Amino acid sequence: MSVLFQPVSIGTLQLRNRFVRSATQDYLGHPDGTISTPEIQLYQELAAGGVGLILTGHAYVQHPLGRASVNQNAIYDDRFIPGYRRLAEAVHAEGAALILQVSHAGRQTPPDWPAALEPVAPSAIPDGRTGRTPRALTEAEIWSLVDAYAAAMGRAQAAGCDGVQLHVAHGYLLAAFLSPYTNRRTDAWGGSVANRGRILQEILARGRRLVGASYPVLVKLNTTDGIDGAGTLTLAEVVTIARHPVAWGVDAIEVSGGHREFKGVMSRPGILTPAQEAYFAPAARAVKAAVAVPVLLVGGLRSRAVMEAVVTDGTADLVALSRPLICEPDLVRRLEAGQATASCVSCNACFNPAGLKCWRPERP
Ligand SMILES: Cc1cc2nc3c(=O)[nH]c(=O)nc-3n(C[C@H](O)[C@H](O)[C@H](O)COP(=O)(O)O)c2cc1C
Repeated sequence: MSVLFQPVSIGTLQLRNRFVRSATQDYLGHPDGTISTPEIQLYQELAAGGVGLILTGHAYVQHPLGRASVNQNAIYDDRFIPGYRRLAEAVHAEGAALILQVSHAGRQTPPDWPAALEPVAPSAIPDGRTGRTPRALTEAEIWSLVDAYAAAMGRAQAAGCDGVQLHVAHGYLLAAFLSPYTNRRTDAWGGSVANRGRILQEILARGRRLVGASYPVLVKLNTTDGIDGAGTLTLAEVVTIARHPVAWGVDAIEVSGGHREFKGVMSRPGILTPAQEAYFAPAARAVKAAVAVPVLLVGGLRSRAVMEAVVTDGTADLVALSRPLICEPDLVRRLEAGQATASCVSCNACFNPAGLKCWRPERP
């Protein structure tokens, strides 16, 4: 049997195979952040389609400043727990596991953001996409965020999710702390790699006190800002950063990259040949060489051959996909039945606040 279809573990969590649905915001939540029936159906369909693990779309940990897009799910209060419990039950009934991804928008607030609400970030660096300049967080606000993330971790466990993933990628708040491009602070929360990672360390310490030592905690980690030049995140820093959360009790690291400001880095368009696939593989290899926990690789995985290669050559332990599973939620079953590659052409039309589906016009 192909290595891809063999069981694998993340900490105490046993998975039926190495296929992961990477976190994907579905724009289908209720406006108040609760889980909707179409979301339950979407997750049920994904689980029935064969993936071993589903990471939820990112849920925001603090209201209102943490919200990143319309109809995004929330986890800033206990009233969101029942919806996630229903989601977890639907996924478990199909034999897959569910991990809740938690985040805060930081400077990447939505286009419909009221002018009166100021986005917050480590430093007041203008965002080229929104045209807005966030306000730098105060020390007291940083501590309240630490508590908000830790409480969200506790809610993931209370909802029966199989683990929690901290979103430390794509320019959202925790990624913004890690990067010298967005974090220019001169206090204990900025400057050295250790200081830029301090908020993550504090969240993990407080979160672990709530969820216990054996509850799976994952991190989705930015390995590049997506722009070159002095004052941006380097791979050498990322490797140091990756070692830290593992020392603080993280059970797996998912390797990604980019900010919303710099298009085409996180979800690179036009992946049509094997050579274009797995665009974060070099970063994954560097991270994997530095840590002893499973590494998940996301970004442009399309063909069964490339997915098999990244696992067998030791680049990563699990393969994570987003856009291909929007196009074909049953892709894992198809690959198992002999389909060689995903039908997704990476056109990025799926970034559509009207709801998650493959919006490709010429799609058969
Ligand atoms: C519509 C859409 C929504 C996404 N939402 C999230 C999210 O909530 N959290 C996250 O970490 N990444 C999110 N991503 C990024 C994906 O998880 C993934 O990292 C990226 O698309 C590259 O993988 P792919 O080539 O398999 O699509 C999203 C991607 C898409 C297309």
